[in-house]
Amino acid sequence: MTLRHFLDLDVLSPTVLRGILDDATARKRRMKLGQHEAPLAGKALALIFEKPSTRTRVSFEVGMRQLGGHTVMLSPVDMHLGRGESIADTARVLSRYVDAIMIRTQDHAKLLDLAAHATVPVINGLTDRTHPCQLLADVMTFEEHRGPIRGKRVAWAGDGNNMAASWIHAAVQFGFELQIACADAYRPSQAILDWAAERQGRIVVGDDVRAAVRDADCVVTDTWVSMSDTRTDGKRELLEPYRIDAGIMALARPDAIFMHCLPAYREQEVTSEVIDGPRSAVWDEAENRLHAQKGILAWCLGAPTT
Ligand code: CP
Repeated sequence: MTLRHFLDLDVLSPTVLRGILDDATARKRRMKLGQHEAPLAGKALALIFEKPSTRTRVSFEVGMRQLGGHTVMLSPVDMHLGRGESIADTARVLSRYVDAIMIRTQDHAKLLDLAAHATVPVINGLTDRTHPCQLLADVMTFEEHRGPIRGKRVAWAGDGNNMAASWIHAAVQFGFELQIACADAYRPSQAILDWAAERQGRIVVGDDVRAAVRDADCVVTDTWVSMSDTRTDGKRELLEPYRIDAGIMALARPDAIFMHCLPAYREQEVTSEVIDGPRSAVWDEAENRLHAQKGILAWCLGAPTT
């Protein structure tokens, strides 16, 4: 049987992605009604974190337990992967113990290497290239607040980073328009823009944040410099014009929401007034990491859909 890896949104079909989201939404609804289920009883998930995490770690750990399974936390300082054992050998060995592996790594090639040598599903928990788990939670959050995302307009401001790349994938796979405003030095990867263009994706990249957010249904940003990154090289100064404040939000539709995958630096990429304001959906977005992970885990491990 073909392994159900969850590596990126561009390598899964829109039907599969929508199925995972529908399943996640159904499981969320039942959980809120106090109904418990254990479709992954007896299953184990290994979590490899080469970078820090709050949301991804806790949502995978709690989500796996809510589905009846359990997790094994691994960090490079505790295992031989950080001391020279290859990713391929790590994949082969872990596959003999656990039923799925999630990895967060700086190097996307490591994720692909792990998936190539594992005999169990592998999940991308963030790489330097993409963050697909986050995007499922983001689409779920948008749709809870504003209805179907198809045909809507989302504005991304700031850094054309791994989150921007996954927003581009999502725009094509879920059929919405994406307006990206970023400094020239921080444009999204041309390869991902080309992928979207080949599929008639409605992606516009410019440097004017006011133009990007005009009439948007959703305004999104991300930290300009990762909290684990100590080198900024003038990036913050270059991205100053892309801060989301109340004046920028006023250009979006009156019912537009604000999203941010967190962690956030208040008063840098977003003002406190916006992130703590009535249009902010960031706490629902953080909660939905839990529900989206459960949909992803259920799909990867072949649990009956609900
Ligand atoms: N958004 C996100 O991935 O958060 P963590 O880095 O805390 O996992």
